[in-house]
Amino acid sequence: CLEDYDVSAITGFLPHEVPLQRLTNPYYAQWEEIAAAVPSLLLTRRIRSVVDAKLKLLSCEYLGSKAEWRRAYSVLGFIAHAYIWSVGDSTNKLPAQIARPFLETAEKLDLPAVATYAGLCLWNYKLIFNDEESLEHLDLDNITTINTFTGSIDESWFYLVSVYFEYKGAPCIVKGLDAIQYAREGNIAKVVETLQSLAEAIDELGSVLMRMEEMCDPHVFYFKIRPYLAGWKNMESVGLKNGVYYGDEVEPRLYAGGSNAQSSLIQTLDLILNVEHFGTGDSKGHDQNAFMSEMRSYMPGAHKRFLEHLSKVNIIKEFVTENAPQNPELVLSYDACIAMLKAFRDKHIQIVTRYIILQSQKSKTMGSDTTKTIRSGLAKSTHKKEDMRGTGGTALLPFLKQCRDETGDAAAGRW
Ligand code: HEM
Ligand code: ALA
Repeated sequence: CLEDYDVSAITGFLPHEVPLQRLTNPYYAQWEEIAAAVPSLLLTRRIRSVVDAKLKLLSCEYLGSKAEWRRAYSVLGFIAHAYIWSVGDSTNKLPAQIARPFLETAEKLDLPAVATYAGLCLWNYKLIFNDEESLEHLDLDNITTINTFTGSIDESWFYLVSVYFEYKGAPCIVKGLDAIQYAREGNIAKVVETLQSLAEAIDELGSVLMRMEEMCDPHVFYFKIRPYLAGWKNMESVGLKNGVYYGDEVEPRLYAGGSNAQSSLIQTLDLILNVEHFGTGDSKGHDQNAFMSEMRSYMPGAHKRFLEHLSKVNIIKEFVTENAPQNPELVLSYDACIAMLKAFRDKHIQIVTRYIILQSQKSKTMGSDTTKTIRSGLAKSTHKKEDMRGTGGTALLPFLKQCRDETGDAAAGRW
């Protein structure tokens, strides 16, 4: 049952209800105030002094519902990244007032204590007009973000496109599971019909992705927003070689930054269609791509378990292989899904080229003092293309192209 995994037939991996906008218990007022003021505190370079001088160490004991725990996790993620990346020089110490409750909320939700796709996107949106639509008809023109680092519409759009993408992905999950069920029943006609409509739904995801360009300016994204999404892994050049110390912990923690690679939706589609990813340089039959599996530990616990479950019950490729000789339409419908997923990854590569690669070729001196330093961390101190890193820590294009090519390899025509 989908609900057991916190998955909804209507909203997919987004919560079944609109996220909590604010922790209403006055005890947590400070967290909400500071998170809401992050853009202003970054602008005035006061985030660290405010946190150090004013923020009290609060207990998590007054957090009750799941929505409250998620809200606290999301808020603390914004404060933590703003604190670490606030002024030109990074710090490798997260004070206990942030670290301890962040670790506690993260543990509760089975996530790492870092800004993840869940905290930044899945649990960080609200409806503009509550009465206008329900979650049955979520649309990009009636959602907005709760928190951002920069207060820019570009940053809001970057998260909202992902929210909408997850919403539009819900039918893909349902159709994928239906296809597996029909395959179990041996109903070839129904598998064909379901895979055909799954292909159409995946095609729509590609169109959603391309809407990024409507409101998120590549220059603003690269120079102003992206630096705050960075984590503390692969960040040697800004002095975070060994990660970040959380409160009084003696060992630093190494965590990757926020990345859409932490979306459970695309990994769901890979599993449904049996698209396999391998470690860079590995030939087939070797380990699963380590980055893709690592990213599962950056997904909420229930979603991680959903993916594990799916990997055990999926029989689509087996079913298509067995029935292929007598059923060319089965092969066609499966290959249509693969073609659409591959097209999605092609579009994503175009986006990454426009939003990261082309921007990185602009003057190294562009951007504000603050973001210049952080950016140099994401580019590993040089601006050489091969040294660039995604906020999740991959080598960008080689990684993404491999993912795209491995998608194509799954096509039945190639078996
Ligand atoms: C992975 C950049 C938008 C889905 C990645 C990676 C980068 C990246 C650099 C490699 C992992 C890393 O090191 O972080 C971007 C940029 C975007 C963008 C610059 C927009 C400005 C999106 C959106 C989605 C998405 C809206 C859909 C929700 C993915 C997925 C992966 C990924 C699924 C994992 C690789 C794969 O499965 O092919 N992205 N991304 N991205 N991104 Fe994006
Ligand atoms: N993962 C995206 C990047 O590397 C956000 O910029």
